[in-house]
Amino acid sequence: MERERWTSRMAFVMAAIGSAVGLGNVWRFPFVAYQNGGGAFLIPYLVALFTAGIPLMVLEYGLGKMMQAGAPTAFAKVKDKLEWVGWWAILVGFTIVIYYAVVMAWCWGYLYHSLFLSWKGRAEDFFYKDFLGLSDGPGKLGGLRLPVVVGLVLTWASIVWIVQHGVRRVGRVVMVTVPLPVILLAIFVLRGATLPGAMEGLKFYLTPDFSKLAEPRTWLAAYGQIFFSLSLAFGIMIAYASYLHERADVNNNAFITALANCGTSYFAGFAVFTVLGYMAHVVGKPVAEVVSGGPGLAFVTYPTAISLLPTVPAVFGFIFFLTLLSLGIDSAFSLVEAAVTAVHDRWPISRRKATWLLSGIAFLGGLLFTTKGGLYWLDIVDHFANNYGLVGVGLAESLIVGYVLGAERFREHVNTDSEVKLGRWWDFCIKFLTPAILGILMVWSLAREFGSPYSGYPGWALLVGGWGVILLQINLGVALMSRRAFLRASLPASASLVAFAVLLKFLPPMWIMFIVASAVLYGGLAWSLSRARRGYEGM
Ligand code: PHE
Repeated sequence: MERERWTSRMAFVMAAIGSAVGLGNVWRFPFVAYQNGGGAFLIPYLVALFTAGIPLMVLEYGLGKMMQAGAPTAFAKVKDKLEWVGWWAILVGFTIVIYYAVVMAWCWGYLYHSLFLSWKGRAEDFFYKDFLGLSDGPGKLGGLRLPVVVGLVLTWASIVWIVQHGVRRVGRVVMVTVPLPVILLAIFVLRGATLPGAMEGLKFYLTPDFSKLAEPRTWLAAYGQIFFSLSLAFGIMIAYASYLHERADVNNNAFITALANCGTSYFAGFAVFTVLGYMAHVVGKPVAEVVSGGPGLAFVTYPTAISLLPTVPAVFGFIFFLTLLSLGIDSAFSLVEAAVTAVHDRWPISRRKATWLLSGIAFLGGLLFTTKGGLYWLDIVDHFANNYGLVGVGLAESLIVGYVLGAERFREHVNTDSEVKLGRWWDFCIKFLTPAILGILMVWSLAREFGSPYSGYPGWALLVGGWGVILLQINLGVALMSRRAFLRASLPASASLVAFAVLLKFLPPMWIMFIVASAVLYGGLAWSLSRARRGYEGM
């Protein structure tokens, strides 16, 4: 059967930009930039963009186009045994869309509340208490929040409506959902710039603090932000590129997508900081005391600032949440599309059925995050998916293409039909630089993880929502590739890892050394003896 195609190059590029441009551009980038040297952050950020972001995007586009398949099948075509890496990517992405859709559900709720500015004067209490009904901890789920469930239904209904009809419909929808948030952001930039205090806000965002460049964490923040922001390592760009024609451009499309995304982030910073500057001006506090990132910015700080606007605050509130929804929707359906493509490529199931099935599962899974304790779980899963899932898959991708497929061969392939030719620097990035940075990022996060539990959550919650989810994703990925590999390799490996962790936790150091030494020495001896061939003499 003929593979589906994008209706035009523009449709493909817009869809990829839509996936990359998401909530993170508004609530993550400006805050990360502010924390890491303001204007000076652009230096590590741009370096990260050109040495890791664009090279990895070329890799994903190239792989998808070359293999004409979603991530699992594409990796299987590189080497049979590598199919699980593709599934792993898909499963990490699938985990993300489960809670990403819940964040969008909050946006639906706030779209409604913004009409009445329901949070007036007490945005923080309104969000955590009235709206989420937040419980005391992850151990208390305490029932579903009906308004959030309604939002979740709306989100999934839109996703299914778009994805089930294939990339042709995706291509049409993104012609609206990509420009719309940019236009809406422009409204905020214009409104913000004309308010008193705006310049103060911008000073915080843009004044360079070059001393931060000497801190390794600034560089890691830049690389982390680039990977997350470009939607890499979830099999999305592989899936999208698999619907490109075999002779399509790769490199230039990667440049366009990446630059458009980062340009939007930079632009969003103006919308955020001018308005925060105004708010600081009105309440008479320094800007540093009102800034925040993440959900706190979107659902507490910015709404507060909006309700202080001199004219028609409700209209601006409505526009703001419409901006978030239109930012989020194309990121959300790109994650679903990656999974649908993977399933549809692998099994004889129609795209429609695959969409309904996967969306149904994700909706049910998402209900966990709509409970009163949901925010805690969302935070935990998000932390682990980004710090380990994303980084792990990115590492595997660059090593596989760099060494198994061969960076040089791959580069020649993508160069053939591309408008911009890549030089040897790309090989260097994929083979050495990107894996090295991702490796450091991973070790760094691990060190922090063991130093203190993430955000002070109880250990059991981190085990279930963090480590447990990671192990589950990898094992399920291997199981989807082959049951045999799961039973013979990944299950025993995970079981020993768990056993080892339990030992580490409960045994005194002397016993640990005793067990490790005995296992290596005597276990190793037993293993080599068992492999020795019997009955030949004199050799
Ligand atoms: N890139 C999106 C953002 O910046 C988030 C995202 C991550 C979307 C992963 C899809 C997959 O918000």
